[in-house]
Amino acid sequence: MINKNITERWARTEWFRQARFGMFIHWGLYAIPSRGEWVRSVEKMPLEQYQQFFDEFKAEEYRPKEWAALAKKAGMKYAILTAKHHDGFCLWDTKLTDYKSTNTPAKRDLVREYVDAFRAEGIKVGLYFSIVDWQHQDYPHFEDSYHPMRENKDYSNEKRDINRYIEFMHGQIHELLTGYGHLDIMWFDFSYDKMAGDTWKSQELIDMVRSIQPHIIIDNRLEGSGEKSGTILTNNPSDFAGDFACPEQMVPPAGIVNESGDSVPWEACLTLNSNWGYCAADQHWKPASMVIRMLVECVSKNGNLLLNVGPDAKGRIPAQSIKILEEVGNWMEKNSRSIYNCGIADFPKPEWGRFTQNGKKLYAHIYEPQAGAISLMNMAGKLEKARHLSDGSEVRIPPKEWNLSEYKEHEFLYLKPGHGNNYPLPDETDTVVEITLK
Ligand code: GLC
Repeated sequence: MINKNITERWARTEWFRQARFGMFIHWGLYAIPSRGEWVRSVEKMPLEQYQQFFDEFKAEEYRPKEWAALAKKAGMKYAILTAKHHDGFCLWDTKLTDYKSTNTPAKRDLVREYVDAFRAEGIKVGLYFSIVDWQHQDYPHFEDSYHPMRENKDYSNEKRDINRYIEFMHGQIHELLTGYGHLDIMWFDFSYDKMAGDTWKSQELIDMVRSIQPHIIIDNRLEGSGEKSGTILTNNPSDFAGDFACPEQMVPPAGIVNESGDSVPWEACLTLNSNWGYCAADQHWKPASMVIRMLVECVSKNGNLLLNVGPDAKGRIPAQSIKILEEVGNWMEKNSRSIYNCGIADFPKPEWGRFTQNGKKLYAHIYEPQAGAISLMNMAGKLEKARHLSDGSEVRIPPKEWNLSEYKEHEFLYLKPGHGNNYPLPDETDTVVEITLK
C-alpha cells in the first residue's frame, strides 16, 4: 500500500509541478547592513545593535505591483516572500510581537500588499516563514548552533521556555493562514540539531495548517534543511515531511526520487548573485543565459526553479536582477511551452543540450551548434515533425542519404538550409525545437 502522504502530495502539487518557475523574495531589515540575511548570526551581533535597522526601515519605494509585473514578465508562476526570516522581524501586522513592519517608519503591512499585488497578476502566492527566531526571548540563545548570542554565557537559557516559543510560532502561522486569504505555499525554514520535527510540534502544526487551508503545499524543512531532506525521501513520509524537497544553491545531478525510485516533487532554490538578502557589494550575477539553462535543467529532471531576488531596504529589486529577469522573460515569451507542464523526457540527455517533454511533444534544447547534422540518438521512425518553437517554422528531418545513410537507427535535424551546418544557432542560449512524436 502506498503511504497516503505520497499520493496526497502528488495530487496537491499538480499545479506546482506544472508551474516550474517561481520567484523567491528575501526582504527584511538585513537589507540595510547589506551583508546578507545571516548578518546577526555571522557577526554575533546583539539585538540592541540590530535595532538601528528596525528604527530606520522605511520601505519608501516598496511597490509590489512592480515586483509582480516583473515576475510575470519573467514567466514566473508563483512567488514566495519572507514574511519572517531568522532575525524574527515580521513583514506583517502580527498581534503576537511588536517586532514588525507596522512599528517601523514603514508603518505598512508589507505581506498584505504583496499578496494583493501578486494575486492581481495571476501569480500564486506563498510565504516563507522562519521557524528559527533569533529575536524571541524564549528561543534558545547560548550554545544554540546559530543564534547570534550562542557564545555568550550572559544569554543562558534557564529562563527561556521553548514551549512558549512554539505556541507563539504556531500562533503566527495561524495568523498568516487566517488573515491573508488563499495561500498556495508555506515555505518553512529550517530544522537542525534537536530543533526539528517533534520539537516544533510539527504534527499539531500540520494538522492546524491543513484544517485551515487543506490545499496548501509545504516544503520539507519542518524535518529538514538544505543539508538533509527528512522522511520525504522514504516510503513512509511523516504527515509533516513536506510536499516537495528543496535543494539549495544546486541542481540535483539526477533529479530527486524516493527510496522506491519514484519521482518526488522538488524545487531548487538559487540566488541570482551569491546572497539571498540584499548585498550591494555582491556583483556576482549569473547571466540570463545561465538562468535559462538552469531552469531547463530543473525541468529536464522533473523539478522547479525558485529564483531569488533581494530587494534593498527602500524596496527596490536591484537593477541587475531586473535586467536578467527581463532577458529570461524574452526567452520565455517564445519558449515557455517547453517549460510549463513539462518534465523528464523518455530519451537520455543528448550531447548538444537537453530534452524536456510533455506527452507527445519533445523539446530539444540545443546549446551547442553542431558542425553537421544534429543527431537524435536511437530515435529512427519516432518523429512526426519538428518545428522551431520560437516561430513555428519547419526544422527539416533529412532523409538518410549520402553522409547520413549508414545511421539508420538515428534521426537528425537540420536547422538551416544545406547539409546541416547549424552554426550559429538562431538562439545562442537555447534554441528550442518542438518535436512531435508519433
Ligand atoms: C537557508 C538559509 C537562508 C535562506 C534559505 C533559502 O536555510 O538559512 O538564509 O533563506 O535557506 O533557501
